[in-house]
Amino acid sequence: VNWAQLKKVAAFYGRFTLSFTQVGYRARSLGWATVPRDFRGQRWLVTGASSGIGATIALQAARAGAEVQVAARSAGRLDAFIQSARGLGVSGLEPRVCDFSLRSDTQRLVEELASRGEPLDVLVNNVGVLNDAHSLTAEGHESSFAINLLSHFVLTEGLIERGVLRGPAPLVINMTSGGGYNVPLSTALLDVRDPAKFNGTVAYAFHKRAQMVLNQYWRDTWRARGIAFYVMHPGWADTDGVKRSLPRFRQILKSILRDGESAADTALWLAAARPPQREEESVWFDRRQRTAHVYARTRVTRDTPQSLVEALRALAA
Ligand SMILES: NC(=O)c1ccc[n+]([C@@H]2O[C@H](COP(=O)([O-])OP(=O)(O)OC[C@H]3O[C@@H](n4cnc5c(N)ncnc54)[C@H](OP(=O)(O)O)[C@@H]3O)[C@@H](O)[C@H]2O)c1
Repeated sequence: VNWAQLKKVAAFYGRFTLSFTQVGYRARSLGWATVPRDFRGQRWLVTGASSGIGATIALQAARAGAEVQVAARSAGRLDAFIQSARGLGVSGLEPRVCDFSLRSDTQRLVEELASRGEPLDVLVNNVGVLNDAHSLTAEGHESSFAINLLSHFVLTEGLIERGVLRGPAPLVINMTSGGGYNVPLSTALLDVRDPAKFNGTVAYAFHKRAQMVLNQYWRDTWRARGIAFYVMHPGWADTDGVKRSLPRFRQILKSILRDGESAADTALWLAAARPPQREEESVWFDRRQRTAHVYARTRVTRDTPQSLVEALRALAA
């Protein structure tokens, strides 16, 4: 037994279980004012949105009047989702088949959207997976890295470069995870190609930390163009992803895991309220800007936002 590791895990769950589940959401939401959602006239792109948190964000954005491009891998699951939305009286959802594990497919999506000539107002970089098993993509990257981080980088930079993200007040929401709180930024540990060195939960944490840093880099870089960036985490929700990747966690916490609405709430609220942000690196959770570092140890790193972006640029080339 690794007691030091066990102590860390116990401290993490002790600190966050009530907060990240439906219990925390219910308690906090008692004090919230109603913020009307009116997204009429807006075009959105939500990634990883045929099910789970992304599907709820897409559905609610469309319900509030947005035209939403819903991107995921499987055409069949996208169609099933869009049909079920129609059954609820929600239209305005358009499928975009894309495998975000492949740079080439993500770049193809950028070109497809650019060739339409219509601007996007809101991009939600939601797609994300926690893989237990190691696998490499046809392009040679570890799969969860390619989906969780590289695709977000390629998509966001591509849409900006091709002038697609150019509505009157463009907005990007990056979906991270509380798992990122556990590790510092490490560019060397993002794309773990050697199966012997791979641990899916640890890799996921490094991707999610890098997303927080990348968000801050993008905030600073694109401020002058008027593009707003927010990074948020949804708490712990009962989704297919959790069922597949964390069956024991789900079994223990199932009765208090968040539903889609509570997990999607902060994304929809950010898009409606567009709150001002403090300058420092941070994470939005349950409608509040919170620290990006709950443990002092994660501030210590030799890497910088610049070295992260250089590494991603090299891998995306
Ligand atoms: N659920 C939680 O408790 C929790 C907690 C913290 C953070 N998060 C984050 O929230 C986000 C959504 O999580 P979730 O639990 O809703 O996920 P999920 O249930 O696994 O849903 C994933 C969605 O992504 C799509 N997808 C998976 N791989 C893809 C690929 N290679 N290319 C394109 N689409 C792909 C899936 O559709 P197809 O398979 O049909 O493509 C599905 O629509 C993730 O970034 C996750 O890290 C979730």
